[in-house]
Amino acid sequence: MLDFLGNLKRTNYCGALRNSDAGRNVVIMGWVARRRDLGNLLFLDIRDRAGIVQVVFNRETQPEAHAKAEQARSEFVVAVEGKVILRGKSNPELATGEIEVLATRLHILNNAKTPPFQIEDDINAAEETRLRYRYLDLRRPKPHANLALRHKILLEIRKTMDEMGFLEVETPMLTRSTPEGARDYLVPSRVHHGQFYALPQSPQIFKQILMIGGLDRYFQIVKCFRDEDLRADRQPEFTQLDVEMSFPRQEDIFAVIESVMVRACAVAGVKADTPFPHMLYKDAIRKYGSDKPDMRFGMELHEVTDAFPAEAKEKLQIVGNVFAFAAPGGATYSRKQLDELTEKAKAVGARGAYFVKLAPEGITSTVEKLIGADNVKKLTAACGAKTGDLVVAVSAKDEIKGTEAAALVAGQLRLQLGEALNLVDKSKWKFLWLTGFPLFEWSENDKTWVSAQHPFTGIVDEDLEKLETAPWEVRSKGYDLVLNGVELGSGSIRIHRQDIQERLFKALGLSEEQIRRRFGFFVDALTYGTPPHGGIALGLDRVVMLLAGEKSIREVIAFGKTTAAVDLMAESPSTVDKEQLDQLGIAIKEK
Ligand code: AMO
Repeated sequence: MLDFLGNLKRTNYCGALRNSDAGRNVVIMGWVARRRDLGNLLFLDIRDRAGIVQVVFNRETQPEAHAKAEQARSEFVVAVEGKVILRGKSNPELATGEIEVLATRLHILNNAKTPPFQIEDDINAAEETRLRYRYLDLRRPKPHANLALRHKILLEIRKTMDEMGFLEVETPMLTRSTPEGARDYLVPSRVHHGQFYALPQSPQIFKQILMIGGLDRYFQIVKCFRDEDLRADRQPEFTQLDVEMSFPRQEDIFAVIESVMVRACAVAGVKADTPFPHMLYKDAIRKYGSDKPDMRFGMELHEVTDAFPAEAKEKLQIVGNVFAFAAPGGATYSRKQLDELTEKAKAVGARGAYFVKLAPEGITSTVEKLIGADNVKKLTAACGAKTGDLVVAVSAKDEIKGTEAAALVAGQLRLQLGEALNLVDKSKWKFLWLTGFPLFEWSENDKTWVSAQHPFTGIVDEDLEKLETAPWEVRSKGYDLVLNGVELGSGSIRIHRQDIQERLFKALGLSEEQIRRRFGFFVDALTYGTPPHGGIALGLDRVVMLLAGEKSIREVIAFGKTTAAVDLMAESPSTVDKEQLDQLGIAIKEK
């Protein structure tokens, strides 16, 4: 028989009770986390969102409550009336460990099936099971703490943006395609037969139009939708802090975001040092082999092509440059470990990997026979290698990215060895602004130049004249914000002149007709007095993930999806009724 809640009123959160509450009569409510029956004494650990408290039922003094407690099972929902008393022996594991509640009455408000996994941190349930039963997973302390942290960070961001004079404006969810490089999620219109809305990949065009509308400083904490390949830091729907300002210099935008990040970090007890350092994109590639360098450790890359004579290059089939770095402590690597490293290098695009071990007993190299002792010295000197280091040099399989290809491969190995050799200082918070991006990148697939960012990204004034003649030399006014090797955000000073926007669309190979069809309304708006403007968007799931110390953004999203974009709990996507499809005029083709 279940009890009704009736007029029973909770007085305290279980997890919030402390020594100072001793002697008080309380009413607590929550879930049975654990039951221990010692005969005359029966203990129930009761859990709520604040934590766990131990409740004791005494058969001799409170026989009725004790009898009821015998019926309680894991995850039953209960209310306890009782008195807080000091424990004989405290439990240092619990925040409430110095007290317990001596029960006078127990109300069983609901029962529960046996959960598929233990409701506690440190479980090893498969992530799929956790996502399928997310409501049970959320009862664990860590997921709960992550959502609470997310709330606090978002609240602090809103406050900070408000204090700096930004207005939060909502932009439509049912809209048309926005070019952010992914596929759109489409929503069919019932009223307009054969027509579709697209869910926004970002509010990019709308926020620019808000600047044309004179809003001057806009922000929004907004859901974005992208149909793309998912990873640990990518979900089909995710949340951005989206920002746009009129008449800004790049520094003004950086200052706004630095203020926001300092305050968001403080919420998590992290101190962020400002101003954030800047780095040019080409330096990031050459020194770290990445467009989002992790600056928590050194191991800079060096170009060492010179250490490979023509003959050796031919033998090793090296076509482009060779990049290398010294990994402190790597000289202990065995032959087998080096072979594994070579395999990994090949998996990420290496033609070959070449090693020098600077062991205390002597220097050995896998390529000494081919390049000679002097060149081995050259190699180690270029990397500034010391005794105990392993020098790792790589060449790249493909030369499409020109001189960068080997650096990109070396960059991947740098990350891998940084982790493996424990060189990443996890207590550091290394922010970095990246600037000086090329406006275009070559698409091998389409055999044409495509926007490296979205096509509203501004063009460096002096490079404007090269737009039609030497597009590969044109630099953009774009920038990225990186934290500990994760891309947090990206933005730019925009194109605000309609003539330049048209030239860019044309440089991207769009015809007059395509421009009209895809961006007509926006190109029109640009002609009515558009102020210079610029902005940025930060991935808030990633911000919270890093500050919560998690490795996947799924851990900081209430109801995340799998890497196959499936919501295992709600079982979406799903098929729909035939009537619904008929109303929309949609027929499903066989695959
Ligand atoms: P961008 O496409 O770089 O820029 O997105 C900005 C930031 O959003 C986050 N992000 C994601 N997070 C989780 N899952 C995803 N699938 C995902 N995709 C992106 C990243 C990224 O840095 N409109 C421009 C911004 C601007 O120019 O102002 C834009 O959306 O952290």
